[in-house]
Amino acid sequence: MPTFLHELRANTLVTRIAAIAAIGGFLFGYDTGVISGALLFIKKDLGAGPVVQEFIVASLLIGAMVGAVTSGYAAERISRRNTKILSGCLYVCGAIGCALSVNSGMLVGFRFLLGISVGTASFVSPMYISEVSPPRVRGGLTSFNQLAITSGILIAYLVDYFFRGLPGNWRWMLGVAAIPGAALAIGMLTVPRTPRWLVEHGRDGEALDVLRRLRAGARDSDAQEELRDIRRAVDESRDTRVRDLVQQRLRPLLLVGLALALFQQFVGTNTVIYYAPTILQNTGLNADTAIAQTLAVGITNLVFTVVAVLLLDRVGRRPLLLTGTAVLTAALVVLAVYFASDTVADSAPWLALVALVVYIAGFAVGLGPVFWLMISEIFPQTLRSAGMSVSTVANWAANFTISVSFLSLVGAITRPGTFLLYAGLGVCALVFFARRVPETSRRSLEEIQEELVRR
Ligand code: BGC
Repeated sequence: MPTFLHELRANTLVTRIAAIAAIGGFLFGYDTGVISGALLFIKKDLGAGPVVQEFIVASLLIGAMVGAVTSGYAAERISRRNTKILSGCLYVCGAIGCALSVNSGMLVGFRFLLGISVGTASFVSPMYISEVSPPRVRGGLTSFNQLAITSGILIAYLVDYFFRGLPGNWRWMLGVAAIPGAALAIGMLTVPRTPRWLVEHGRDGEALDVLRRLRAGARDSDAQEELRDIRRAVDESRDTRVRDLVQQRLRPLLLVGLALALFQQFVGTNTVIYYAPTILQNTGLNADTAIAQTLAVGITNLVFTVVAVLLLDRVGRRPLLLTGTAVLTAALVVLAVYFASDTVADSAPWLALVALVVYIAGFAVGLGPVFWLMISEIFPQTLRSAGMSVSTVANWAANFTISVSFLSLVGAITRPGTFLLYAGLGVCALVFFARRVPETSRRSLEEIQEELVRR
């Protein structure tokens, strides 16, 4: 069986296109990672109290929900490609606006705008990549997006670190994001619309041209056959309406999308991403060491996402999802034990860092990439935008809930109690995934549609 890397070399055009589209994921990750460091300086400069700081953080998450709702419609009307161009332009405006903000209100407003762009990019990127990729490498290529998210988080940590001594530090931290925003908008001008969107809009001739370019090296009859399959799938799903997603036939698909969306957040991922330095400081470390160790969490996230990219098409989505979720659940139990027992904490002070690293590795090989990948695969062609949009909104809403509730939850049920709660949700996730999540690797989107809708 040719390896993923061989396949990439044989499909250079698709690989280049996927890398450009994945810049959307980078914008998402950069914002996730940059704000905690920038906030340290913003609060002094703009005199922002705790509530205003919460607004500054939350405005992006709320904007992302709005972006995810509206861009489902845009991806359908003006194409996935143009929606991504728009999202890049919005991001540039948002980043420059944030950097030039003279008061907290302005910053909140521009972060909301940035959120609309991030929410849009968060699902139109995997959707675009999945619709142009050949089935054999779709898992790895679509997960370029998750790779870009994790790179964005890591680069943001480094940017925060290097800019911290400069005058106007936080303005630079937020402003430099305009560069990848512009790269996304300009890069997307150079790539085609997806064949699936073109067929849906009756532009079969153009779709065939795109398929011929994308599948260079394959026989012309293969491109024609792929076009016929897409046409058939579009015709079969033509009469479906958005409300069908909640009706009996398609409800199981929506349930899988929503469960992946909610569990991806409810196992506590972003408390680890946002609060890792705080969690580590609670183990008795000073701030500098805690921040340095947080970098280890960011690097592990990136490295294990690379592992997922290389394996998703070889071993399939389900084994990675189940193994990753089991590993992160076990790590949560270890964290709970660590914080519950002074004896454990005293005799093995390194255990908290090890548990955090193992946790993020489990997330990075499973739920991290698999959620975004699967929601781009399981919905029928004409309902893909709507299905992905609903799942993405649920994911951002859960992200918001978990991020704002972590500290209060620790106050109410203690730190071990909070990690045990996440672990309990991890067990529920495992049971649901084992019973309900289908395997989607190595099949065309049309074959997946046929099987899932008919069963
Ligand atoms: C999640 C984000 C998370 C990131 C971490 C993404 O798949 O949706 O909420 O911050 O992974 O790598």
